[in-house]
Amino acid sequence: MALLTWSGDFSVKVNDFDNQHIKLVNLINELHAAMKDGKGKEILGKIITELVSYTKYHFTYEEKLMIQHKFPAYLKHKVEHDEFTKKVSGFENDYKHGKAVISQEVLIFLKDWIVNHIKVTDKNYSEFFNSAGVN
Ligand SMILES: [Fe+2]
Repeated sequence: MALLTWSGDFSVKVNDFDNQHIKLVNLINELHAAMKDGKGKEILGKIITELVSYTKYHFTYEEKLMIQHKFPAYLKHKVEHDEFTKKVSGFENDYKHGKAVISQEVLIFLKDWIVNHIKVTDKNYSEFFNSAGVN
């Protein structure tokens, strides 16, 4: 069973963002499945790298639109993105250097962070973007 299941209540009412969030959820599920299947370090490392790079791509994409439309809570939102990016990049680095393992705690952290960020922080921009014509 997947660690995290996407449903309509994850929607932030902006199509591109929803699709990118689905991809992030899929990557976390992929990591979970690979771990459960006892996959080796190389495969797990690849998924983590993809997760970090896709996270950066997605955050940049969101932030670009926030800047473009002068979203008032941009800075506060960016701080959350930066903290997560720093944490996950640090984990990627530690994992690749044998200083960290992918534990249940790591997976729970990723899952909880993404759910909370989408459902609380991201949803704060839905109305703003929609009324600016971004759907
Ligand atoms: Fe966000």
